Amino acid sequence: MVWSALLCHPVWVAFTALLAFVVRVQRRGPWLPRACPVRLRGKTAVVTGANTGIGKFIALDFARRGARVILACRSEARGTAALKEIRDKTGNADVHLRLVDLSSLDSVRGFAERILAEEEALHILVNNAGVSGLPKQITKDGLEVSFATNHLGPFLLTNLLLDLMKRSAPARIVTLASVNHKKGQVDFSHFHGENLTYHMDAIYNHTKLHNVICTKELARRLEGTGVTANSVHPGIVMTEVLRHYPFTVRVIFNLVGFFFFKSAEEGAASSIYCSVAEEMEGITGKYCDSDCSLVLPAPLARDAALGVKDFEISERLTAKL
Ligand SMILES: NC(=O)c1ccc[n+]([C@@H]2O[C@H](COP(=O)([O-])OP(=O)(O)OC[C@H]3O[C@@H](n4cnc5c(N)ncnc54)[C@H](OP(=O)(O)O)[C@@H]3O)[C@@H](O)[C@H]2O)c1
Repeated sequence: MVWSALLCHPVWVAFTALLAFVVRVQRRGPWLPRACPVRLRGKTAVVTGANTGIGKFIALDFARRGARVILACRSEARGTAALKEIRDKTGNADVHLRLVDLSSLDSVRGFAERILAEEEALHILVNNAGVSGLPKQITKDGLEVSFATNHLGPFLLTNLLLDLMKRSAPARIVTLASVNHKKGQVDFSHFHGENLTYHMDAIYNHTKLHNVICTKELARRLEGTGVTANSVHPGIVMTEVLRHYPFTVRVIFNLVGFFFFKSAEEGAASSIYCSVAEEMEGITGKYCDSDCSLVLPAPLARDAALGVKDFEISERLTAKL
């Protein structure tokens, strides 16, 4: 009784509302996509995993700016729903759905072939699609499924589209990594599902470290071509990213996230910043934080020799036999 009287006290209610407001404002980063006047008319962008979460808001932003946008999704039904929503909200009819399953190298090759056949140019590639918490599974390419989806599939896709991007320069490649890459380790036997411990986000963290390492090495290889490559952390974002986690973990994530985590729209900001902001013109090989500042990634991601080795092994594993 005393507690309920206290909790309903106007001072308490006002204080809680003020705190919630402050937390809500803090969630938003300092760079707001809607305040950025850059237009993308005449530009073509590919966004993977664009049917939901962060990817959908990245694609929506590009469509608003007038770009031709290719939504690279694995589900026709979910992709079509997002396509309709983005066209309706932006009035941009030049938004298209193309299907790709990034965990399959054949599917990635088929998707890339279609893009190369249909598109005259490609100015922005956002490697957004990703998974976390999948149980162990080896794909028909002999790769561990999370590494295939998060690292090796997007790695192959990027390499297959590189010549088109070079011809379209200036062009930008943006790969969604995560601050969790700092907890990752490099062991190349992981790619085949060996020496892995499946617990919560352990596998995910390794895959995200490869994202940052290989993006940095790609940037080095692209020097002088007019194509930049950067990796980003979107923040902790309320999306479906925990869909493979236990129910209780998802409940806690959503409860805490309601107050403290970014919305999918807010989480798209750092990727949009790297893709379109004038401040990022010519900037390459960097790791961008969720507040759009360029920060140092983990020491392993700055090891140039490891970058060369990781890139070469990833090339070998994704080469057509
Ligand atoms: N949310 C966060 O807190 C957070 C933090 C750091 C980094 N990130 C990164 O941000 C990116 C976007 O995540 P999100 O939070 O928006 O997650 P999400 O809501 O789960 O969306 C993931 C997207 O990836 C697609 N995808 C998954 N596996 C795929 C495959 N094999 N082939 C093609 N597409 C596939 C999904 O398609 P379906 O809908 O068909 O499954 C979906 O469109 C990911 O790379 C994630 O690692 C997220």
